Formats: sequence, C-alpha cells, structure tokens
Amino acid sequence: MADIKRIFMVEGKPFYPVGGESYNSSGYNDRESEAAFKNTKLLHGNTLEIPVYWEQVEPKEGTFDFTSVDALLVSARRYNVKLILLWFATWKNGNMDYVPAWVKTNPQRFKRVIDAHGEGLWNLSAHCKATLEADSKAFAEFCKHLKTQDSAEHTVIALQVENEPDIIGSDRDYSPEGEVAFKSPVPPMFIAAMKKYGKGPVYNMWQKSGSKESGAWPELFARAAEAGYLMCTWSIARYIDGVAEAGKAVYNIPMFINLWMKQEFLDTEMRMDIFRWATPHVDMIGPDNYRQDFETICAIHARDDNPFFMPETNGDQNMFLAIADYNLIGYFFYGVERITATDGSIRPESQMLVDRVRCTAAVVLLLLKFQGTGKIHAVIHQNQLMQDQLSSRRLDLDGYVGLVEFGERKAPSLRKDWRHRVGVGPTEPTNINRGNGLIIQASRNEFYLVGANYRLFLYPKSYLAQIQTSLLVTPGHFISVDEGYFDQNGEFVVDRRRNGDDISFGLWVEPDIGVLRVITCD
Ligand code: DGJ
Repeated sequence: MADIKRIFMVEGKPFYPVGGESYNSSGYNDRESEAAFKNTKLLHGNTLEIPVYWEQVEPKEGTFDFTSVDALLVSARRYNVKLILLWFATWKNGNMDYVPAWVKTNPQRFKRVIDAHGEGLWNLSAHCKATLEADSKAFAEFCKHLKTQDSAEHTVIALQVENEPDIIGSDRDYSPEGEVAFKSPVPPMFIAAMKKYGKGPVYNMWQKSGSKESGAWPELFARAAEAGYLMCTWSIARYIDGVAEAGKAVYNIPMFINLWMKQEFLDTEMRMDIFRWATPHVDMIGPDNYRQDFETICAIHARDDNPFFMPETNGDQNMFLAIADYNLIGYFFYGVERITATDGSIRPESQMLVDRVRCTAAVVLLLLKFQGTGKIHAVIHQNQLMQDQLSSRRLDLDGYVGLVEFGERKAPSLRKDWRHRVGVGPTEPTNINRGNGLIIQASRNEFYLVGANYRLFLYPKSYLAQIQTSLLVTPGHFISVDEGYFDQNGEFVVDRRRNGDDISFGLWVEPDIGVLRVITCD
C-alpha cells in the first residue's frame, strides 16, 4: 500500500481539493472574482484557485495593499469554499507581466535575461539578487498578511509560488551573471541530490559524462547545450525556493510550483528532477498537464519524493485515471468562469467537465481513505494511449469480476430509470464517450460508484468457469443498492433505494444520482 503524503489539511484532517482555476485577471477585485466563486459552487468544487498579483499588492516599493486578498477571503468564506492562491510575480508563463511597474522600468537594478544574441528579454534574470530580494520581501509580506487574517480560519489551504516559471525566447540566460554561473562549479547541493536520487535522465547523463564529483556545468555534463539548460533550470528553481523560504519563515502553509510541460530545450523528466532537488521549501511540484501523453506526465511527477498534485489540467476523463492509478491528491481545471452561459446556466459543452468534478467531489472521503490500496478503479471509455474503443471493460475486483458497459442499452426497458429517459428517444445518438467515473470497492461486498453513462455488472468469481465461457451468466445478488451521499461526518445518507427492474440490468450511474452504494450478497 502506497504511503500517500497528504499536503492539504483542513481542521487538522486531510482534505482533497478539487475545482477550477479562475482566468488570469479574476483576482484583481471582487467584481472580477464573483463568477469564479459562483461557478465553483455550481460545479460542486470545494476549492478555487485564483491569482494574487505582485504588481497589485506592492504598487510602490515598500508600500503594500492587500485589499484584493481580503476581498478573496471574504468571498471564499461567504461561498464556503477554500482557496489556493497563486503568486504571480517574477514568473508568469515564462515572462514578467505581473511584476510592479517599479520593477519593469528599472532593468539596471532588476536585471533581465539576455539571449544568445545579446538581446534583453521580457523576463527577469534568476541570477539577479536584487529581484530575488524584492520578490521574497513582497511574498513574505503577503504571507504575513495571510497569517494575521487567516491563520484562525484557514480559508487559504496552499500557495503556488510563481506560475509556470521558464524563459520564453532563450535556452538560458547569457547575461554576465548567467555566464559566471555557467562556468562556476556546480553547487554541491545539486550533486548531492542527484547522487541521492541515483536514477533518472539527469543522473544517467551525468554518469555518461564521467560522473565527475566537481567542476563547472559543462564539465559534469558533456553536452554544452544540456549543461546550459540544467544550469538555467537549477537557477530558476533555487530562486523560487528562496521566495518560498522567505514566505514559510513567516507563515508555514503548504507551497507548490506548477510546471509548464514545455518540451522545448529540456526534457520534462529532467526539469522535474531539477525542480524537485532544488526546492526543499516547496512541498510539491505539479504539472500543468494538458498533454496527450497524460499518463507519462503522471508517472514523471508521482514519485516518492513528490506528492502528486495537478494544479492545472483540462479536467478530462484522465483525471479518474490519475486518481485511481497515480494517487493524485487534488486537481483543478483552468477557466472556471467559462462553464456558464450569460444566463448562469451550465453550457452544454461544459457539462461533462462539470460532471467529472461533481463526481470526484462526491467521493473525496473515499479517496482519502482508499487511495493507494488498489481498491479504486478508474472507468474510462477511451484510453487514448491504447487507442482502445471497446464498448465494455473488465475489472478484476476482490471476489468479483466487474464488467463495465458504456452507453445506453438498446431496448427502452433496459435503459435507466424514468428520470433518465427524458430526451432519450430511440433515434437519439448515444454518446458512449460520456461514460466515465470511479468504482471504489470498500470491502469485498461493499462498492461505491460515481460517474456518467456506464453500468457495472458484478459476477462473483465463484462463477468463474461460466464467465470464461460466456458473459451471459447471471450477475451476483444484492443486499441493497442505494443512491445517496456522504454527510459531514462521513456517514452515507440514502436518498433513494433501487430494487427489482432497477437493479436487474446493471448498476448504472449518472452524475445527478450522487453516489451509488452497492452491498452484495454472497
Ligand atoms: C497556463 C497558465 O498557467 C495559466 O495561467 C493560463 O495562462 C493558461 N496556461 C492559459 O491556457
């Protein structure tokens, strides 16, 4: 059983954050943030991710104004949602858009990255001490303010330090300070961390280059280009660790970094290695995972020294896979405001996204209890990696074989219940791709199902011989099948019992039924 380090805590207990991230400009004031809060509730999310801007909180050097932060706290408490605040400062998507004007206009003091042609970029140099000091000071003030305003209520459960730190337009910083760093001895901290980890692409490259214990970057890593990227990434990550350290010194709250899954220059796994080794004051490094090779990204970031969190995704059905197979401890999709139309209704094209968050939120207590035990199974219709288009799936469960069927059954009598027939005429196309969710086997005879448009048949393994010859055997029997939800105390509350015809044709789910609890009878 995997030991899962829970970073998010509320009232001393592990917490599973799930919801949306606001658009970039929504944190400036409460008029802008209102839609993000409203939609977080509509979505059944429990937490909102929203930015705080250095340029706004320190408009004049040394003069701080946290009115916008206070407005976020007030709204979050009114809506009863938690907050993860994103510190947009030295880096925001590989540039410096969110630093104050007094930083933007003083490149002599706050040095810029210089590219290989000698051009200054719209990006601050990680080698500039003045910028690190200024960002750290502002972040520490922000943390101090949070401590005074929120350490009793804990509305804010974590802080993201910077946003997608990187350099747009250059492989590294060729400024005089950057060149000095490149030619200086590789920091012993880097070498020690690499040796301790003892695997992975950076370690392998070092081995191939002769495993030198000391020397400049190009001496330890034979290929100059890679040595340059590694040095550059290390410098950025160390800078961010410095900012995090300054914040943690005043307010000890979980902190993380979100990485851009950019493939240019540096391999994703190498970037992860460097960031992880360089940032002891940061609790976790999470991918902004929009990639097609979703599972590869999960495998790279879900490692023993890094709790696996996805601060930004598109929220597709792969989230269930990350929860079940990679012990994901929380996730957010970007642009929570977009789920509603101007009249406040959920846009049809956002419905599946909303449903997935709703289904995840309905079983967070079970996720906290059963992740890492092998009892959580993702139900996904299309496995993009396998290009698998099966209309059914087989699950190997404790004491049972589960057969998952997607979509509607042909005969109307075999469809779902009367509430779910509306609009499902015989000619209506059945969207089987909508089928996804989670199946949690709490004990041999106790199952919890959430999701959309699938139905589960449970065959006791004692029927195995028949199962192997034909799937037309009778599924197992039930003591009870109930729709319901978990209350504040973690008790399952029954809303509606299913029996008779309603359980003879499989255990189907839709997001609006809540959680389906199934107690089987041997
Ligand atoms: C990733 C960034 O982290 C977000 O702030 C936002 O810019 C999105 N990309 C836009 O898709």
